[in-house]
Amino acid sequence: MTREPATTGNVATAGEPPGSPARYDLAAWRRRIPLLQSFIPMNNCSQSPQLDVTRAAAEAYLDSWNEAGMDWDAWMIETYRAKEVFARLINASPDEIAVACSVSEATASLAGAFDLSGPLRKVVVSEAEFPSVGHVWLAHEKLGLEVDWVPVREGLVHLDDYETAIDEHTLLVSACHGYYQNGFVQDVAAIARLAHERGAMIYVDAYQSMGVEPIDVKAMDVDFLASGNLKYLLGVPGIAFLYVRRELLDRLHPAVTGWFGRENPFAFTIKDLTWAPTAARFDTGTPPVINAYISRAGMEVIEQVGVPAINEWTRVLSARLVEGGQARGFSLHGTSDPSRKTPSTAFFCPGVSHEVEVLMRRRGVIAAARGPVIRLAPHFYSTLEECDFALDALLAVFEQDLPAGLGLSVGKGHEGGHA
Ligand SMILES: Cc1ncc(COP(=O)(O)O)c(C=O)c1O
Repeated sequence: MTREPATTGNVATAGEPPGSPARYDLAAWRRRIPLLQSFIPMNNCSQSPQLDVTRAAAEAYLDSWNEAGMDWDAWMIETYRAKEVFARLINASPDEIAVACSVSEATASLAGAFDLSGPLRKVVVSEAEFPSVGHVWLAHEKLGLEVDWVPVREGLVHLDDYETAIDEHTLLVSACHGYYQNGFVQDVAAIARLAHERGAMIYVDAYQSMGVEPIDVKAMDVDFLASGNLKYLLGVPGIAFLYVRRELLDRLHPAVTGWFGRENPFAFTIKDLTWAPTAARFDTGTPPVINAYISRAGMEVIEQVGVPAINEWTRVLSARLVEGGQARGFSLHGTSDPSRKTPSTAFFCPGVSHEVEVLMRRRGVIAAARGPVIRLAPHFYSTLEECDFALDALLAVFEQDLPAGLGLSVGKGHEGGHA
């Protein structure tokens, strides 16, 4: 690694648009992220970096385990506190939040909770869903669900296509908030309106948007929402949260269950399937305690910096990446409008995206390959200089590092390769 540490984003670089420096003390936050001494993390759509507080949270659990031997009371409270901060971030109540180990698991809990004895069986699923989510719906076809797809066209999902797909047989619409491949943000409130008008419910996977896009489940009128924790929420793998609208709880009975889904987990009555009255009915077994500690610390940073301020700054960074990438001849996947995307910006490089990720790391930039694209995903602590550095590194990978001819033919100056 040869890169010099980047200077702060509060120091305007030449040509920087007026008003772009972040509303918070970006330099101070940067000092709390050790990874910035050696790399430019542009992989926040995949795994955000460690902060002093997330490390301290992991150590707090390790200390508790080491010093107390076990402290289930404190560990259960810690899990609930993680639910509380997740709830605050989406304007819900902690009693509407369940904890899981992954979005896949949370989605599966939900999929197995519906009563399919009536006429509503169709699940309208966007092709922009993360494959895992699509797989869960497909796996439940054997129990009676029927999957119908809403297409991705030119990297976007169109409201008209939801309008066509949602009908009087639709039980649920499964629509991600941010598209994992290119960050496209769906108008969840409009999709919810369409779903509800036709008697259907809506499930939102917000894994790619939480932490950078404002989310209010009440204002958006969302019925279910899930997110993991390691992307823009600054946490770790192994924990996810599921929001369930309070009014729907009584009629939902997940087949993926366990003792923490009971009204009183400590009653130990094996023949009694008493459902917790809250969204805890979607809890399963022993929760991921160390991950709960870390996740709360990461989410509290997001809360403290503030999603509106993060959203404002990351849109500036997003515009820089889109314009800078196109100026260097790269072909963009999805929308160029920063107000319609997360900070994730994707450029086509079909067939070599993994190699590009590896080669960029050698140049000091951690990017995230996904299928035919390489994604550059800054976060609240990122600077305009880092965006420029990352784009220059991408250009150098194509012009100097990839085998002769391959880079230029796949990455630049062509519009083909839509996935
Ligand atoms: C939007 C989205 N949903 C779901 C997942 C998968 O989540 P999990 O591994 O927690 O099941 C990802 C992972 O990248 C994702 O980006």
